[in-house]
Amino acid sequence: MLDIRIEKTQNPKTLPEKDNPLVFGTIFTDHMFIMNYELGKGWFDPRIVPYQPIVLQPSAMVFHYGQEMFEGLKAYKTEDGRTLLFRPNKNWERVINTNRRICMPEIEEDVFVDAIKALVKIDEAWIPTKPGTSLYIRPFIIATDPFLGVRPSNTYQFIVILCPVGAYYPEGLNPVKIWIEDEYVRAVKGGLGEAKTGANYCASLKAQVKAHDEGYSQVLWLDGVERKYIEEVGAMNIFFKINGTIVTPVLNGSILPGITRKSVIELCELWGLPVEERKISVDELLDAAKSGALEEVFGTGTAAVISPVGHLRFEDTVFQVKDGGIGQISQKLYDTITGIQLGKLEDTLNWTVEV
Ligand code: PLP
Ligand code: COI
Repeated sequence: MLDIRIEKTQNPKTLPEKDNPLVFGTIFTDHMFIMNYELGKGWFDPRIVPYQPIVLQPSAMVFHYGQEMFEGLKAYKTEDGRTLLFRPNKNWERVINTNRRICMPEIEEDVFVDAIKALVKIDEAWIPTKPGTSLYIRPFIIATDPFLGVRPSNTYQFIVILCPVGAYYPEGLNPVKIWIEDEYVRAVKGGLGEAKTGANYCASLKAQVKAHDEGYSQVLWLDGVERKYIEEVGAMNIFFKINGTIVTPVLNGSILPGITRKSVIELCELWGLPVEERKISVDELLDAAKSGALEEVFGTGTAAVISPVGHLRFEDTVFQVKDGGIGQISQKLYDTITGIQLGKLEDTLNWTVEV
């Protein structure tokens, strides 16, 4: 077990849940986890302290070259009072991949999971229980060397903060409108696309603003080379049901390997549904929509859970997916995944980890 120094807040707050929509990413709990790293010394001084500003030099490398990574997972309160995490070890696997890609020191699996468990335990009373709510967990690592040359930092901070949240999209489980981007690109193979680092999200802002201005919730990215193949959405992976088959873009080096994506594929396979991970061109998608073969579209992600897509727009073509409502598979996946996360369904796949 990680030996964590604990300094509790003198001014505990309570979860402002009553009549509060818990807008994603706006409310933070009483405490945070923090741990430092120095080259030659490794990770040291793991501590849980009151949620507070962090003090860094203006020259800290994270501000200049963006050497930072983050993760996202959630904690849920079950009806019988247990606290569950959803596949935290998969987040750790992704941390390792991201850290290697952006030259950050690795963190041991137990350290990552124990830090999260300890923090969630301390702020357990902040886990909201209304339908559609949960406690979002945001671990992240920043480069802290006060240095302006371009190289990997020799010092870092690993921090975890917690955030009681409702739905990521104001639409909730109602279908969202997606903008297929034809001007900007998010990532290319060999770049940072499959790493969970802030740079990818910065690259996405321009198109996201454009899409928002046009009344769309999110951007669906095409591949950065041919501008032809579907990749993923700004904050989720994407799935299509075409002629009864569940199809999702194959992981190609520029797509984030989502844990919800993996879980959806595993569930569909368990249910005997045909699943294909392959290249899907935007032309194939438009043809499938025109011919009526496109039966469902949904996004998957920790924040977004299962998010049905009702409308898509590409260049001058706007099309509705079937009747624009929630598809049968989207609903079944949402019910199953949230059922397992909330301990309402038996966790036969051993996905949850008790805090
Ligand atoms: N793709 C992007 C760009 C994301 O930000 C996310 C969210 O984490 C996902 C996909 C979905 O990943 P996961 O299901 O692990 O949350
Ligand atoms: C998540 O779902 O955890 C994400 O990281 C999406 C985020 C950009 C809000």
